Amino acid sequence: MIPPRSRRYSGADGAEVELPKGDVTEGVVRVGGTVRRPHQEQSWAVAAYLDHLEAVGFDGSPRFLGLDEQGRDVLTFLDGDVAGDDLPPWALTDALLASVARLVRRLHEASAGYVPVEPFPQQSVAQDEFELVSHLDVTPQNTVVRGGEAVGLVDFDLAGPTTRLIDSFNTAMHWVPLRAPADLRHDLDQLARLRVFADAYGWTAEERAGLAEFGAQRADLSYRRMKLRAETLGGGWERMWREGVGDLIRRRGEWLRANAEGIARALR
Ligand SMILES: Nc1ncnc2c1ncn2[C@@H]1O[C@H](COP(=O)(O)OP(=O)(O)OP(=O)(O)O)[C@@H](O)[C@H]1O
Ligand SMILES: [Mg+2]
Repeated sequence: MIPPRSRRYSGADGAEVELPKGDVTEGVVRVGGTVRRPHQEQSWAVAAYLDHLEAVGFDGSPRFLGLDEQGRDVLTFLDGDVAGDDLPPWALTDALLASVARLVRRLHEASAGYVPVEPFPQQSVAQDEFELVSHLDVTPQNTVVRGGEAVGLVDFDLAGPTTRLIDSFNTAMHWVPLRAPADLRHDLDQLARLRVFADAYGWTAEERAGLAEFGAQRADLSYRRMKLRAETLGGGWERMWREGVGDLIRRRGEWLRANAEGIARALR
């Protein structure tokens, strides 16, 4: 296979269709069976990781096809539904949640042993311990669903060295979701859903017992990272901070600590 840096894509796929906007990256469009994204600092590291996932037969991630004439990253478009910011009812089922956990588990199995051949940018504040490379941003808006099951992950912008527990906790945080009940936008049984996720992913007894405190510490860290990104990168990061994401994260940490016992019991 041609190395990512030498790969060029020159397909004529027709009209550009705007894709739903995320919080940070501008100019993500669909052209036929491809997605074009602005080339970014982490693009080569992501492309090499996607090559690895392809080589080991993981079918839930886009393929990196090369740069187009405009210098944009070209990736394969994954067919299916992706939830928008307002989650539709189909995005809230326990069956989908369990399938997300299984997909992330499969991603971790496919990623184990991958040694980055292109370096990922340093994480801000504190570098995660390196157990494997993973996605690190498995939100509903980055998950492709078919027939009520999660079948694909897109938007590998935050991928990098991390641990299984960090990435799986992060996924549960977005999908259960884990946040202070006052910040919930839907009527959900969070502890029951956390249990569904735990069983489908396969957290160990030890991971379950320590999950609330682990999550609270991750909340402390993500508060510091989000604040630094808002201060140094501006753009969407700064807007999210202004809209109160820091307080939301702080309330999540407080809720996890205050409910540590109930969470451990629900996972037992
Ligand atoms: N390869 C793909 N296959 C299918 N759909 C995609 C693909 N890439 C992106 N999309 C769709 O486009 C939307 C936006 O793309 P993406 O998540 O890559 O960028 P973003 O969310 O705008 O970026 P960021 O999260 O960095 O702000 C996704 O939520 C998804 O609906
Ligand atoms: Mg996204």
